[in-house]
Amino acid sequence: MNFGLSESRALAEKIKSSIQKDAGCDVALFVPFTALSAVKDIVSSSSIWLGAQNAFWEKSGAFTGEVSASQLRDAGCQAVLLGHSERRRLFGETDDSLHKKVAAVLDEALIPVLCVGETLEEHQAQKAREVVERQLAGALSGFSAAQLSSLIIAYEPVWAIGTGKTASPDQAQDMHDFIRDRLAGFFGHDFSQKTRIIYGGSVKADNIDALMAEPDIDGALVGGDSLKAESFVRIINFVRKAIHV
Ligand code: PGA
Repeated sequence: MNFGLSESRALAEKIKSSIQKDAGCDVALFVPFTALSAVKDIVSSSSIWLGAQNAFWEKSGAFTGEVSASQLRDAGCQAVLLGHSERRRLFGETDDSLHKKVAAVLDEALIPVLCVGETLEEHQAQKAREVVERQLAGALSGFSAAQLSSLIIAYEPVWAIGTGKTASPDQAQDMHDFIRDRLAGFFGHDFSQKTRIIYGGSVKADNIDALMAEPDIDGALVGGDSLKAESFVRIINFVRKAIHV
């Protein structure tokens, strides 16, 4: 819930002009609903994907205040963030509701970016793997590998979001490896190898290099540092370098 129209436009313009036509890696901007149309006008002439931060599972009807995946597609989105920890914690999103949201997003041929991650309490109680496995199974069970071919998983330990405390590259790698292993268990080895698993939680230009050096970290979900074009573009450049070495 950051930025009005003029700030959103200015940020998107700066990011677009800094990465030019081809960023060398996939870049998505997950903007507030109110700024989707304005940002779409800017990024539609570039390789940047337009994304929303949430979607409701029904297509249309009497659901005052909600926005459907089909409305997001109509607004020009290619991707939707689902299950961000703030949605789970503050707005009561459950694994069941996320399962319906994944289905709705796939139905509109949008890319679901499913966020998973444990809280500090769960982390300290050594329950991180159990929690993440439950979140993955809850949102994804029943789909086929073919249906989920565009899925992106974002591992975001809740204790690292907006706190300045990043998971160490080792800690993040360990969980990404676990997630890949679980995806292999659910949908097969090929699926797990092809699915992008990105890391989020206090990603910055000075820690992205070490994170991207890990074999199972395929990209980043950036919060605070995506609000400043300069730092976000520096992060993109590090990701691009890591992908092309
Ligand atoms: P952060 O946020 O990069 O500021 O920690 C991440 C997020 O909100 O997903």
